[in-house]
Amino acid sequence: QANPLILGIESSCDETGVGLVRGIELLTNTVSSSMEEHVRFGGVIPEIASRAHLDAFVPTLEQALAEAGVALDDVDAIAVTSGPGLAGALMVGVSAAKALALATGKPLYAINHLVAHVGVGLLDASIAAAATAGELPENLGALLVSGGHTEILRVRNIAADVELLGATIDDAAGEAFDKVARLLGLAYPGGPAIDRLAREGDAKAIRFPRGLTVPKYMGTAEAPGPHRYDFSFSGLKTAVARCVEGYEARGEAVPVADVAASFQEAVLDVITAKAVLACRENHITTLLLGGGVAANSRLRQLAQQRCGAAGITLLVPRMSLCTDNGAMVAALGAQLVMNGVAPSDLAFAPDSSMP
Ligand code: KG4
Ligand code: ZN
Repeated sequence: QANPLILGIESSCDETGVGLVRGIELLTNTVSSSMEEHVRFGGVIPEIASRAHLDAFVPTLEQALAEAGVALDDVDAIAVTSGPGLAGALMVGVSAAKALALATGKPLYAINHLVAHVGVGLLDASIAAAATAGELPENLGALLVSGGHTEILRVRNIAADVELLGATIDDAAGEAFDKVARLLGLAYPGGPAIDRLAREGDAKAIRFPRGLTVPKYMGTAEAPGPHRYDFSFSGLKTAVARCVEGYEARGEAVPVADVAASFQEAVLDVITAKAVLACRENHITTLLLGGGVAANSRLRQLAQQRCGAAGITLLVPRMSLCTDNGAMVAALGAQLVMNGVAPSDLAFAPDSSMP
């Protein structure tokens, strides 16, 4: 079916998102976030997120339909994030989507959240222009960096063939920003605060460890190590904690801006270097950036520099499409419909650890 009208539902973390997409055209992207309710805990509390989705779902759906001037009956199919994410949070969106599908008789598509972060690229004008006939560029890779994921993907066919090249073995990049921000006494979410503070600091002041970059883990192009494209940020987080404790033990003021800048550089140095390495070794010529950490100014700069030097085209969707939202789910749903993929059986269950 050409240009199907898809309703997309996202509830894997703290954003309740409902988006409407026609083919690769974005109609509306309505998001309600429970972020504020988690601030005082310094991180997303799953139970609070689940309850917030329950409260937010119907108003968010109604707002999205109204904004797009669309009735539920006009929709060709419904798409919903079925994993990975917080189990209880996913359950709310999946139950809502199943109820809508049952009530309207519309087909329902279970969507992988991470693949949707890539599919959303089709909605961005700058990317649609780089793409041909509504298709993602060939030899496409994706670097997804958020509070929940840090992954390098190879995308051969968005509807059928997405391969995981590398991932974090412990904390996600955004999670590391949030934890280090907390150590430095900055408010949650810490990413934006560190980004701002780092601009006043010296990124070379402290040499923090670059996780999984020693030969034992990296290997060589001919004999790749076990973690050539993988990431680890928990050791870095510990190093920052020891560093801060050191200043305190000596009765010295913590040079917060220098620590923030040096920490940020350690994370982004590894992320961009490994992403570019994965691209070069896997014939990837276009790299799409996604996830909340894509808002980071230094990441954008460094990724642009290193991709440019390696002849890789870097695509960065606008921020509202990089963070969790319903339009990305609808965008991938539309690709599945247009590729003739069969809808999901209504008996599917959310899968919090979906690969
Ligand atoms: O994609 P997202 O909104 O939600 C998920 O985690 O799925 O990403 C949120 C994460 C948080 O960890 C936040 O600290 C981080 O993205 N973040 C940033 C920046 N803005 C948001 N990290 C670094 N620099 C930023 N400017
Ligand atoms: Zn996400």
